[in-house]
Amino acid sequence: MDIRKVAVVGAGTMGASITVALVNSGFQVLLLDLDQKALDAGIAKIDRMLGSLVKKGLPQAEADQRKSLISTVENYKDLAEVDLAIEAVLEKMEVKSAVFTELEKHCKNDTILATNTSSLSITEIASHLKHPERMIGLHFFNPAHLMKLVEVIPGFDTSEETIGRSIRFAQSLDKLAVRVEECASFLVNRLLGRYMTEALWCLEESAAGIEEIDKAAVDFAMPVGPLALRDMNGADIGLAVARFNYQEYGERFRPAEILVEMVSRQWLGQKTGRGFYVYDPDTRKRGAVNSELEQLISANARPHNKPFSPLRLFLPMINEAFLALQENVCALDDLDPALMAGLGMRKGPLAIAEEIGLAHCLEELELLFNLYGERFRPAPLLKRYVRAGRKQLDRKRMSDTKQVMLSK
Ligand SMILES: NC(=O)c1ccc[n+]([C@@H]2O[C@H](COP(=O)([O-])OP(=O)(O)OC[C@H]3O[C@@H](n4cnc5c(N)ncnc54)[C@H](O)[C@@H]3O)[C@@H](O)[C@H]2O)c1
Repeated sequence: MDIRKVAVVGAGTMGASITVALVNSGFQVLLLDLDQKALDAGIAKIDRMLGSLVKKGLPQAEADQRKSLISTVENYKDLAEVDLAIEAVLEKMEVKSAVFTELEKHCKNDTILATNTSSLSITEIASHLKHPERMIGLHFFNPAHLMKLVEVIPGFDTSEETIGRSIRFAQSLDKLAVRVEECASFLVNRLLGRYMTEALWCLEESAAGIEEIDKAAVDFAMPVGPLALRDMNGADIGLAVARFNYQEYGERFRPAEILVEMVSRQWLGQKTGRGFYVYDPDTRKRGAVNSELEQLISANARPHNKPFSPLRLFLPMINEAFLALQENVCALDDLDPALMAGLGMRKGPLAIAEEIGLAHCLEELELLFNLYGERFRPAPLLKRYVRAGRKQLDRKRMSDTKQVMLSK
């Protein structure tokens, strides 16, 4: 059965931009939030997003038509006819569970129930349902109406039918839909986490300065440097994510101390006007680097053992990519496109690894492992490739699994 009518539960940052992504592709949307005030705030965000599309050339009449596809509702009984419900409420298990209990009570039997969680277990959310087979993770990236990736994450009991329908639905939004097996932070944010934390370790030991690190990353493959990105997302969010990953994956995800220090000083980034850089309080425009932070770092810097190079930032991401492949988190052919669509990288970590040479990657990782320990322990799959004398990744063999990318 085709998906036509979609419920979006939660009209915050993600709910609003998911709604715009939906109406951009002609879906009818029922938007639900706690009360009228929250719904009004959501609609105001949607108006701003559609307005910016008009500024970029979308005819006003077309924007109005898209807006007319949205209805706001305050009661779950109004969601009886939706084919898909996407939940985008607070990142708290008890809040999400309560939402899904209501959805299961009021939606049709074949409505797909999807969560946009970034970190909670899909399987655990689904475990509260009578029919966990219709529950799935649809992980959009912020802002959902502009970002091209949707990670499609089945829970333990999700049916193949639900997976197939969800992938086709995400593709109909003109997104790259990548099937990702459930793991902490899923695929893209897991790999991103290793790179972001390494940037902090480099800074902490004064291997390179703030601007030098950001410039190196941008020159190499990224649309924005890791420290500028941390300021955009907030150090508090970054620390919470880092702690979660550390708890799930262990030592290689240990949060950098500098992040803890920054949170305790409320140097959270754009939202408090000071992070790695300072920001204009009115326009949030980025200014100079935070000189107090620089002084703090140089007063406490640990001796560094190896001159800085951009590879230091990307090797942890490459190594994590091999670990994820080993665990069959995604198909090999999906990995680089997912990272490129999700993060705006110009090339993915596997392409970078092939470009610099798999053997060279391993050599560098071993060197860094000897200097810094556990977080650089080379992935066994990378070692196997090097031992086999391969220069390229064996895309055919690895993508022979059923987890192929189902893009258009
Ligand atoms: N912000 C991001 O960059 C991002 C990216 C990907 C995924 N996510 C995930 O998306 C979800 C939403 O994040 P956000 O940043 O949009 O949050 P947000 O705080 O901006 O919005 C949450 C919305 O949910 C509403 N809400 C809270 N409890 C509710 C309930 N019981 N019923 C209905 N509505 C309720 C709130 O009123 C609010 O409008 C989270 O699970 C988050 O992890 C966020």
